[in-house]
Amino acid sequence: MPSQSLHLDVFQKIKSLGFNAISAYFFWGIHEPKRGEISFDGFRDLQPFFDAAMKAGLYVIARPGPYINAETTGGGFPGWGTYTPGLWRTSNTSYVEAYTGYMKAIGAQIAKKPNYQRRSRNPCGFEAPFTEDFTYESELKAVLRSVGVTVPLTVNDAWPGGHFVDIDIYGYDSYPNGFDCAHPNDWLPGAVDSTEYFWGAHLQFSPQSLNAVYEFQGGAFDPWGGAGYEGVFSTAHPGVYTSYDYGSAIAEDRTLREKYYELKLQANFRSVSPAFLTSRPINIFSTQGSFTGNQALKTTQVLDVVGNKTGFYVVRQTDASTTAVQTYNLTLSTSIGTLTIPTIGGSLALNGKDSKIHVVDYAAGSTTVLYSTGEILTWATIDKRDIILVYGNAGELHETAFKFTSAIPAATVVSGTGTIKTKVLAGNSLTLQYQTTGQTVVQVGNTVLYILDRANAYDFWVLHPASTGAFAQFSTQNPILVKGGYLLRSVSTTGGTLAFTGDLNSTAPVSFEIIAPAAFQSATFNGVKLALTKTRYGTLTAQKTATLPAVTLPNLAALKWKTADSLPEIQSQYSDALWTVADHKTTINPTPPNTTVVLYAGDYGFHTGNILWRAHFNATGAETGFAAQLQGGSAFGFSVWLDATFLGSWAGDAVTSAFNGTFSFPTVLPKGSTHVLTILQDHMGNEENWWAAGDDFKTPRGILSYSFLGNATTTVSVWKVAGNLGGESYADHSRGAFNEGGLFAERQGWHLPGFNDAAWAVGAPTQGIAHAGVAFYRTSFDLNIPAGVDYPLALVFTNSTANPHFRAQLYVNGWQFGKYVNNIGPQTSFPVPQGILNYNGVNTLGISLWAADAGGARLDSLALKLTAKVESSMAPVPLFHDLPSQLTNAKARGSLCCPRVIFPTPLSVAGLVSLDVLDHVDVSISYAYLPLKR
Ligand code: GAL
Repeated sequence: MPSQSLHLDVFQKIKSLGFNAISAYFFWGIHEPKRGEISFDGFRDLQPFFDAAMKAGLYVIARPGPYINAETTGGGFPGWGTYTPGLWRTSNTSYVEAYTGYMKAIGAQIAKKPNYQRRSRNPCGFEAPFTEDFTYESELKAVLRSVGVTVPLTVNDAWPGGHFVDIDIYGYDSYPNGFDCAHPNDWLPGAVDSTEYFWGAHLQFSPQSLNAVYEFQGGAFDPWGGAGYEGVFSTAHPGVYTSYDYGSAIAEDRTLREKYYELKLQANFRSVSPAFLTSRPINIFSTQGSFTGNQALKTTQVLDVVGNKTGFYVVRQTDASTTAVQTYNLTLSTSIGTLTIPTIGGSLALNGKDSKIHVVDYAAGSTTVLYSTGEILTWATIDKRDIILVYGNAGELHETAFKFTSAIPAATVVSGTGTIKTKVLAGNSLTLQYQTTGQTVVQVGNTVLYILDRANAYDFWVLHPASTGAFAQFSTQNPILVKGGYLLRSVSTTGGTLAFTGDLNSTAPVSFEIIAPAAFQSATFNGVKLALTKTRYGTLTAQKTATLPAVTLPNLAALKWKTADSLPEIQSQYSDALWTVADHKTTINPTPPNTTVVLYAGDYGFHTGNILWRAHFNATGAETGFAAQLQGGSAFGFSVWLDATFLGSWAGDAVTSAFNGTFSFPTVLPKGSTHVLTILQDHMGNEENWWAAGDDFKTPRGILSYSFLGNATTTVSVWKVAGNLGGESYADHSRGAFNEGGLFAERQGWHLPGFNDAAWAVGAPTQGIAHAGVAFYRTSFDLNIPAGVDYPLALVFTNSTANPHFRAQLYVNGWQFGKYVNNIGPQTSFPVPQGILNYNGVNTLGISLWAADAGGARLDSLALKLTAKVESSMAPVPLFHDLPSQLTNAKARGSLCCPRVIFPTPLSVAGLVSLDVLDHVDVSISYAYLPLKR
């Protein structure tokens, strides 16, 4: 995240799930957008990211590529790769030479802190699938080792296909439900079957290491025109829009979804169940009907084959798509013989898409759980008592049985309205039957059993005070269990006081229950003392009400907006003399050009954002129109002008990545007259290169073919192209190579906070323009959001139906934070993180509006909205600051450029020849006149 300080917030949330590691991709194209110029400055700095993981107590699985996929442009490959010869993702020399610099540099970053690297066991990862190239694989490993990476190396195969198995920890990914955000409740019937097949693959390919699944459908991406994530930040490839929320447990605005609380149950169970680490699935491919006799259910027996023979019985529906309820009894062997459970009578139930893990002979401190159908959330030994938390859906029948070494103690309900039935079993065992409804606490000798329904289970947090030394935050000792609160982040235990930090999201009082050693008699929450009451079974309770101060947000519609035309290129006096001449006669691109000169933007160093093309020609008098096939990736669009006359547009749809458009000229062009066609196109990012030894990411962006209608012999005398200012020598190092595209506004720096728009006309994006073209709008507003809260904000559009064909890009304090395509969608809400937004001061908002129809376009509405209100213990978020080297640059370009830099051709060429390192007249002027202004 460009707001580096927000990494800690997200990592703490992950840690509080009970997780101990994160896996992260690093994106070559961000670090080396120009070949040989590798940067880890500013938002590209990995150290704050690693430091935050360390502070939160999380190990890191670093996945530096070189190929990552990850719905990033080119799958992580830099744009210059599109014109670099040779098959990529192979041992081809040109590819090896291309990636070596980056892999060494990123490897050195990862290896930089040798202690951290060694102790934190952060593996390094690569991405498969491969057309197996063993030389490539061994060279990749060698390059990381050569710069001091000592941790195990991993590979993520895109399925358990056995590629790149000569690696420390081979693994794979799986998305068994595919990528369909429109129907989150419709699962594929065989969605869970793959797990059985995976085990065989593990035994075949990597029996010597752990069975690693590096990605397993934490959510799904949503394409242009998709359903949206609630019904889901990005350097997007054409398959996804601006959001990569993914419908994940932690949403894009960093709020927690229900999925978060469900994952918390599972992660906490794993972290207190060491037997699970040495278990093996036993009955693969004969799970249907096993242990239950119910063919509608599959039960996998997973046995600890090393330790105390704990059994885990994973029950789920045979048909994963069903929402039916199945009832069942489990007949299985335990240390006291074969039992049919429930042993007291009745039956168990599996609801719809649930799956359950029932345990047998499970150790929870000094307590032996003979079996439990109520699922274990966690257990902890506190003051010599074993506290065990079990849960089920509200109203479900469950049993938990304990095996004692001596006489069976009495079981007493000490809290809650639930009742229990008990039955003595063989071997000093006692089973308890109960319904999981609300919260009921039962004491059985030195064991305290919390019986919870799912909603109550979601409320529990397992916190560990930091120990000492460099890895203090990784401690798993001295657990303290707390019920209550939207998020609990940490506990510290100094001076007999429990000091909790956490977040609350409701003004209704939160009831905390604290299960901690009796030595702690006082507690604080976010520094405020809690009034504690002791329960009859020794835990502490307290109430807390969140403080959620009201804030006044600016009404964007009521602000003063300024506007300027961002398409002066169509005016007759406009000179493109300093634009890049598109004159390449050859390309290495696998798509052979159908044009006399290569018209692929990538071949001229433009890899992102809007691209402008200008074709100069002499008319013969016979031309009646122009036809062109452009390619920009799914959801792209383009508009065409003959001189200042609009000819038409392809407005785009969700799936079309190349389109052949035919445009009529309004009048006959006099023979010998000179004209310019201006084409504005969108570039949605480069395709991914999912298949190794393929060239998909080189799929061109630009003009594939063109012709003049009426006269096939008319030729373009010169083609010019403009993309982002400077191309690969991009201008804004603070915000990175993907922040700007080729719109005039962007080349001029109109989106930057320092730009002086005093001379501009007054006009708002909701007024828009009444003709096809591009307008740019600017405004500024203050925010005053108090400390101690996390109030995420989003810029929200409403869909316009009147003149629907338009595209808008959002810039917040210079950062591009969204591409809105009104006629495609689905995204209308664009979260902008604190730190990019100045929460206590002035903000600059810029919007480009590209109207694709002759009638023009306007935004129906645009609003700044809170997406949540949370009282938060999140660390303060400093405002993003431009890199020192950028201050002069941005300011120069932004404030000293006149809104229209239109020079007669002779002046622009004659006057600025000495500054030919820059390829746009506007920036040249800024640099040239900056000292004079001062
Ligand atoms: C995986 C890949 C990820 C991502 C995912 C789909 O195969 O490893 O990078 O692209 O598919 O979201």
